[in-house]
Amino acid sequence: MKKVLVINGANLNFLGERQKHIYGNESLDDINEYIKSEGNKISICVDFYQSNCEGSIIDKIQSEYKNYDGFVINAGAFTHYSYAIYDAILSVDRKFVEVHLSNIFKREEFRKKSVISGACVGHICGFGKYSYVLALYALRQIFLEV
Ligand code: DQA
Repeated sequence: MKKVLVINGANLNFLGERQKHIYGNESLDDINEYIKSEGNKISICVDFYQSNCEGSIIDKIQSEYKNYDGFVINAGAFTHYSYAIYDAILSVDRKFVEVHLSNIFKREEFRKKSVISGACVGHICGFGKYSYVLALYALRQIFLEV
């Protein structure tokens, strides 16, 4: 069974509390449970990591990449300015799919730019929790191709 780590960055632990009109009512645990069960259906074992600290996300990528076949990352606001996370993704020999719950292109100007996209195999946004599930399908396709 392939293993995927879903990484969530800043403020994503606050889902269900923050800007519900944008991010919905479900908590991160609710969403993770759903992603886990969808992963099982396509034979992907999914683990989860969330941090509000940029450096902790980098440490996690560096220390755990050998334990996973691929990664899904929603870096939260780090998406828009963290060259350090961009470098961390490029530093490891694994595929990353970037996801966002909201459609970042329909929002404030600063959200329209992702500095980590160029380090990822693709980018899925705007589909709420389904963005993560679509990313699992994208990774499964990549796993099948290699
Ligand atoms: C987000 C979009 C980011 O702009 C924002 O900072 C987040 C959440 C999303 O999932 O839509 O924290 O990554």
